[in-house]
Amino acid sequence: MIQLNRPQNPDIQENMWDKIDEIINSNKNKAGSVITVLRECQNIVGYLPLDLMDYIATGINIPASHIFGVATFYALFSLKPKGRHTIRVCMGTACYVKGIKEVMDRIEQEFKIKAGETTEDRRFSIEAVRCLGACGLAPVLVVDKDTHGGVSSDKIISILETYK
Ligand code: FES
Repeated sequence: MIQLNRPQNPDIQENMWDKIDEIINSNKNKAGSVITVLRECQNIVGYLPLDLMDYIATGINIPASHIFGVATFYALFSLKPKGRHTIRVCMGTACYVKGIKEVMDRIEQEFKIKAGETTEDRRFSIEAVRCLGACGLAPVLVVDKDTHGGVSSDKIISILETYK
């Protein structure tokens, strides 16, 4: 069992560090375990802060540059905190012609963020995505697992207000 110095990170509580240590210890000498370790640690913390990646690198004895390289290569990893809710706004053609741009503008204006960012209170992350496969409902956005079709810039804020 390794004993590493845990960095001070306000997003990582002691019980999270305990779980992270378990993940590191159970993957320590396994070849090709980097992605597994990063994915499981991200599941615990919600994202991969730099000090956590350094900690993992020391724990599984792999250069930090390699860990960072893997974390930045794969889209499934996030190096920034995510909001409690993720809004995926479809910018595909069908949604675009039905006015999704105005909906996106309204969200960005209301929550003072741009696509790809997270609100300061970490309530929402917003992403611009391509066709969500629900063109018949255009314009469409998805909040977490909820699909909202026929959205408009007038209605969108009251819909989002239900996500605390
Ligand atoms: S273009 Fe938006 S769901 Fe297809």
